[in-house]
Amino acid sequence: MDKIVIEGGVPLRGTVQVSGAKNAALPIIASALLADGDHLVRNVPDLADVRTMGRLLGHMGCTFERSADHHAASIRVPADVRPEAPYELVKTMRASVVVLGPLLARWGRARVSLPGGCAIGARPIDLHLKGLEALGATIELAHGYVTATAPGGRLRGAVFTFDGQTVTGTENIMMAAALAEGRTVLRNCAREPEVVDLALALNRMGARIEGAGTDELRIDGVRALKPLDHTVIADRIEAGTFLVAGALPGCDVRVVGCVPGHLEALVEKLRAVGAAVTPVEGGLRVVGDGRPRPVQVRTSPHPGFPTDMQAQMMVPLCLADGSSTITETVFENRFMHVQELQRLGADIAIDGKTAVVRGVPRLSGAPVMASDLRASAALVLAGLAAEGTTEVFRVYHLDRGYERIEAKLAPLGARIRRDKA
Ligand code: UD1
Repeated sequence: MDKIVIEGGVPLRGTVQVSGAKNAALPIIASALLADGDHLVRNVPDLADVRTMGRLLGHMGCTFERSADHHAASIRVPADVRPEAPYELVKTMRASVVVLGPLLARWGRARVSLPGGCAIGARPIDLHLKGLEALGATIELAHGYVTATAPGGRLRGAVFTFDGQTVTGTENIMMAAALAEGRTVLRNCAREPEVVDLALALNRMGARIEGAGTDELRIDGVRALKPLDHTVIADRIEAGTFLVAGALPGCDVRVVGCVPGHLEALVEKLRAVGAAVTPVEGGLRVVGDGRPRPVQVRTSPHPGFPTDMQAQMMVPLCLADGSSTITETVFENRFMHVQELQRLGADIAIDGKTAVVRGVPRLSGAPVMASDLRASAALVLAGLAAEGTTEVFRVYHLDRGYERIEAKLAPLGARIRRDKA
């Protein structure tokens, strides 16, 4: 197993390129199941989760191949597949559940393992299932699997309101409705840029979806779709992680290939901590000047402050000149990075959904354990800011969502390397 070793305290300077968005690529690859034939998806990040999605399609009988540079995926979907997602694959990646909607819409039946608990809270899929039931599906839960059937082989359009906003839930029902009979209206939908990118990809396949990016989607179901040909949007969470790195004292980083409009809530907070963030050709430049100022952060669905940036944003606040609060409203139990940051000398107390972060003048390097994907990124950032050596263990979490983070940070001057643990 690998570890990341960081000699901290070197201010970062230079330019870093953002990869394609993991959370857009995964449902877009799953949407290939909606049409037989040869699909092409470009700007796919080279990540463990994408390989898992490829294996999942392979299990169903599709072929999944990536170009020599790994950034384009060719998918061949045969006329008949095995509409099943086994526990072995789903347990390693909760997002596998996005195959449920396409399988059911295309083949009238699907058997998908329940994802089970996740380190960042319960994460149920009840809203996905209610949405599919509204489209006429019969759902059975037994032996850890969801078995869904569309009576007569085809889902029917319906009006459905999500009880809570869910990103992959919105994506699942949108994909299912694309091939349903008649019109579907979905209310209280997630508005994340990844939902919009999926809608764009589906419309290019011939779907008729309106309203993506608002909380109401209107979908006129069609009989069949054409194969995909789509370029995935930039990863706003990877971009955001590099922006936070650039906001650390003394740093000056250009993050290129990102979409500034997807990063507004984060940029606002980075400016509030005292970083200068300016638009540059192809992206954003961030200059971290002096000790960060304390701020209040509250996560919420897009366009609010993203829960996937909460752990990383805590790092500059650990070094701020005063007390900050971070309130996590999207997931329960998403503060596992706190006890590891404390090992680096951070002063953080948790009170229910809120972390109170009292800034300290410096962090000091130590061995730390990554607990989930974004927590690992926070530990890397903290290691960059800390004095001395930080070793981040359980790097497989990081590799699920960041493409060779050490190879992207090293050219900025970071003393960072990957070693065998
Ligand atoms: C997606 C992202 C993840 C991000 C999250 C929130 C992907 C692959 N992953 O995850 O990186 O952190 O959005 O922005 O895109 N909920 C229910 N019932 C459901 C579904 C969700 O109660 O059926 C709850 C969840 O427990 C959570 C909240 O809704 O509290 C939001 O979850 P959701 O938006 O569904 O997250 P994911 O789509 O799993």
